Amino acid sequence: MEWFTFQPSEPAAGSELFAEEIPVQQLARQYGTPLYVYSRRALEASYQAYYQAMADSPHLICYAVKANSNLAVLNVLARLGAGFDIVSVGELERVLAAGGDPARVVFSGVAKQRHEIRRALEVGVHCFNIESEQELEHIQEEALAMNKVARISLRVNPDVDARTHPYISTGLKDNKFGIDINRAPAVYARAAELSHIEVVGVDCHIGSQLTTTEPFLDALDRLLLLMDQLQAQGIHLQHLDIGGGLGVQYQDETIPSPADYLVSVKQRLVERGYGDVMLVVEPGRSIAAQAGILLTRVELIKTTEQKHFAIVDGAMNDLLRPSIYSAWHTIVNTVQHADVDSQVYDIVGPVCESGDFLGKARDLAVREGDLLAVYSAGAYGFVMSSNYNTRNRAAEIMVDGTQSYVIRRRETVAEQFASESLLPL
Ligand code: LLP
Repeated sequence: MEWFTFQPSEPAAGSELFAEEIPVQQLARQYGTPLYVYSRRALEASYQAYYQAMADSPHLICYAVKANSNLAVLNVLARLGAGFDIVSVGELERVLAAGGDPARVVFSGVAKQRHEIRRALEVGVHCFNIESEQELEHIQEEALAMNKVARISLRVNPDVDARTHPYISTGLKDNKFGIDINRAPAVYARAAELSHIEVVGVDCHIGSQLTTTEPFLDALDRLLLLMDQLQAQGIHLQHLDIGGGLGVQYQDETIPSPADYLVSVKQRLVERGYGDVMLVVEPGRSIAAQAGILLTRVELIKTTEQKHFAIVDGAMNDLLRPSIYSAWHTIVNTVQHADVDSQVYDIVGPVCESGDFLGKARDLAVREGDLLAVYSAGAYGFVMSSNYNTRNRAAEIMVDGTQSYVIRRRETVAEQFASESLLPL
């Protein structure tokens, strides 16, 4: 039974849970828990799903580094020819260290700092996605000082409702993101007259974990109208970036495949006379989420008058999504018990917060010492982890067939406070 099938499902009775060819129990014994386990095959397959849907027309697939920025993950994708969407100079350095091509990098983010702009100009990123008029001026000033030309695209805010969790919805007028689409023609006109700016594209990103294509297509329609308007102004764009945001199945959502989604996007481009414009996408979650699980061991079972708790060694500091977005992650027991009745458990960590849970009201047959697998943890999992409660961050492993590799070793307490110091007196 393999878990990288993209469909959260329990191992059949009597069978074991595998990561590619390796039983996950073996990984947990070898590397300890909590443990992030990624499948190279799954990662590659989800990238290929985008590639196959886009290969026949001009395209750039920029994996959103924030979803999972481990160097090995970036390197696997870079080897397939991926570009990258970054939001900080830190992410840029990761991409470079992982062998990514800076000419395939788009630099997003609401307020790029001057030193970040300079570094991106130095290495030659494909484009800056500009989110405000002020930022445009900052980039012009830095490019002028360095005698470079900055390629830019405006991230416009198309004012569409992504119908997702409010914290991860970004395309509405009251969000901090992007430039109001109605202001965009004036900002493009300004950009076109700047000496060290080359206008190359338009961009939007309306939110994350979208489960239908309509909001994407609504946003696209608005961007195409803007492109018509810009053409009339004499500004011809080379690329159109529709951002990331395609969801994954955490529970029972039905999600369009990248192919379904991109076929409708490409069709619309052709219909509107923009078939030769390069299509850029910035998928994060839909590349990485289903390629990872979090393994965690049951420390003890605690029963109160109200509830049964399975207290595990993984916690909100390891996987924050359930605590902050009330996100559902499927949790399965990797051990199948014939002699244990299932019960309704809250799966909680040892952190001193009532908000510290990985799953609530889960039907599980579970005993102390069992190994649980938390699914869909490859995106926004490890990257959002912290040292809260002075807990060491988990190790990360990449499985490739019958081999497993440590791609981030478990932290130690000494490492955690190595950069702290005492007062002299
Ligand atoms: N491009 C931009 C400009 C973004 O801000 C994001 C995500 C992406 C692309 C990638 O979106 P994706 O394909 O992964 O949906 N921590 C939250 C998700 C935050 C997403 C932020 N921006 C979560 O755990 O659900």
